[in-house]
Amino acid sequence: MERLTVAIDGPAGAGKSSAARLVAKRLGYLYIDTGAMYRAFTWAMLQEKIDIGDAEAVRALTERIDIRLEPLEDKCRVFVGEREVTDAIRTQDISSRVSSVSALAVVREKLVQLQRNMAEGGGVILDGRDIGTVVLPKADLKIFLTASVESRARRRYLEVQAKGGTETLEDIAASIASRDDMDSHRAVSPLRQADDAILLDNSELNLEETADAITDLIQQRC
Ligand code: C5P
Repeated sequence: MERLTVAIDGPAGAGKSSAARLVAKRLGYLYIDTGAMYRAFTWAMLQEKIDIGDAEAVRALTERIDIRLEPLEDKCRVFVGEREVTDAIRTQDISSRVSSVSALAVVREKLVQLQRNMAEGGGVILDGRDIGTVVLPKADLKIFLTASVESRARRRYLEVQAKGGTETLEDIAASIASRDDMDSHRAVSPLRQADDAILLDNSELNLEETADAITDLIQQRC
């Protein structure tokens, strides 16, 4: 069976990562979480106390940073240099800063290049905001995965609660809406559905059903 290059884009909390990871595992594909790369860059900026307005320091960081993703069972471990940041990049602090960092052209140039290199050869699923429009405009299959803000916030809320977090449903809905707004209105590579992407609204689907729908789409193309 042909091994495709699959692009999944969509807003925050649509379940792209969980669904993509599950589908990749089923099909033996490599899963590349591009959002984790922007989060890792944001983490490194905080670590090095680099101000987002300091263009020269940000550019210098793009030249020396080493971001790596390592698949492990159904997880994707994230490293900056030798330091594992898999959990450290999932904090609310990083979530509230990452959209400003990902709006910087110099950061996008660096990470898009890395993503294209990782996707070479097919048998890959990348999820993000600009995969079908910018990173892999010739992807074999493009999916735009979305859901209502309410259902996305509710899912995140349940995840946060399961981990013992204290954020309220309202806080989470506001944070998701703010990230969507910044990601869709930035000048460089804004979040948008590629003309040739298939729209999948999973407001009424659970994770398994979302993964089934994506798997079917991939198998129809093979
Ligand atoms: O996917 P996740 O929600 O972890 O992504 C975090 C942030 O990284 C997004 O809100 C967006 O600002 C940025 N991002 C991006 N382009 C991508 C993936 C993520 O700008 N391809």
